Amino acid sequence: MNRVNGIRVGIAGLGSFSPDKVLTNQDLEKLIDTSDEWIFKRTGIRERRIAADHEDSGKMGAIAAIRALEDAKLAPEDLDLIICATTTPDKPFPTTACHIQDAIGAVNSGGFDMNSACSGFVFAFNTAAQYIGTGMAKRVLVVGTEKLSSILNYKDRNTCILFGDGAGAMVLTSLEEAGRGEYLGGSIQTEGGNDDVLEVPAGGSTRPTDQEVLDAGLDKMVMGGNRVYRFAVNTFVRLVKDALEPYGYEQLGRIVPHQVNQRIIESALEKLDLPVEAAYSNIHKYGNTSAASVPMAFDEAYRGDHLIKGKLACSVAFGAGLSWGHFLVRW
Ligand SMILES: CC(C)(COP(=O)(O)OP(=O)(O)OC[C@H]1O[C@@H](n2cnc3c(N)ncnc32)[C@H](O)[C@@H]1OP(=O)(O)O)[C@@H](O)C(=O)NCCC(=O)NCCS
Repeated sequence: MNRVNGIRVGIAGLGSFSPDKVLTNQDLEKLIDTSDEWIFKRTGIRERRIAADHEDSGKMGAIAAIRALEDAKLAPEDLDLIICATTTPDKPFPTTACHIQDAIGAVNSGGFDMNSACSGFVFAFNTAAQYIGTGMAKRVLVVGTEKLSSILNYKDRNTCILFGDGAGAMVLTSLEEAGRGEYLGGSIQTEGGNDDVLEVPAGGSTRPTDQEVLDAGLDKMVMGGNRVYRFAVNTFVRLVKDALEPYGYEQLGRIVPHQVNQRIIESALEKLDLPVEAAYSNIHKYGNTSAASVPMAFDEAYRGDHLIKGKLACSVAFGAGLSWGHFLVRW
């Protein structure tokens, strides 16, 4: 997928939300056979946030959305489309986008959910850009929101140490209106047939939830960590190389990657011959928040002045499916 040829697209506003409750590595030591040292050394994670019972993906997404709209100096009524990327929707239906629409009062908008696991936000961002680029929508809210704690097995040390909850959002408009963050292009790619690498085995139409599913914990995430690791490093490298090839590395301001694992990020940067500061990372505080991780990191990078005016910002993401993709903007 290449750059949109019609209306130029920009990022008008950014926002994020993370729940108050902190789950530290030390807390996990009390639940499973692990240690702060092991987790930090292998992943770079010190703690992650866990949503309260009343905080679902929709509610967290709505707070991030309001913050992004404030940043864009736009009202909820100005939106004409909401795309919500989530692996942990509030319910099978109605969509979480509908819940966000209702919560923020976006009465003139349509909306839908997109699920591509950890690549979800990047897929949704590229989709939103197409809507604006073709003139089919003028102001699109893109939300990535996850309550991953609802699909984690806190007895499985392979998975529960890695993930956390949170939400991030961006408002995309014409570049003329946004005045920054020009969309230069992106990609959306998948390779099915890899359920054994990373999946929630039951709870859908293949295997609806019953007592046997619950007893076996098949409604929770399972992962072949080593295979994801190799795939993530190689894909990170390829996506960044391809995205920057027409521009040159000297134009790079910051990579804002999916917060997958600090070791994966650093190993990819090393292969790209880039310093560790080339990528913005907040994984030590939040862990991997799947579809929420790119917009949460982007918002923090923006508010902390880590994006460089006039330079490129590139987001890359990868996850279950397998799925992977990127978007490139000039900040
Ligand atoms: C999960 C991950 C951190 C595991 O790290 P790793 O270096 O591959 O570790 P391994 O699975 O090879 O396990 C090494 C040892 O640590 C142990 N171990 C695994 N999890 C552990 C934990 N949480 N605490 C302590 N020990 C653990 C293993 O049992 C194994 O022990 P052994 O050597 O006695 O057999 C790493 O593979 C990873 O980050 N993968 C990517 C996962 C991911 O990001 N998925 C989401 C993609 S969007």
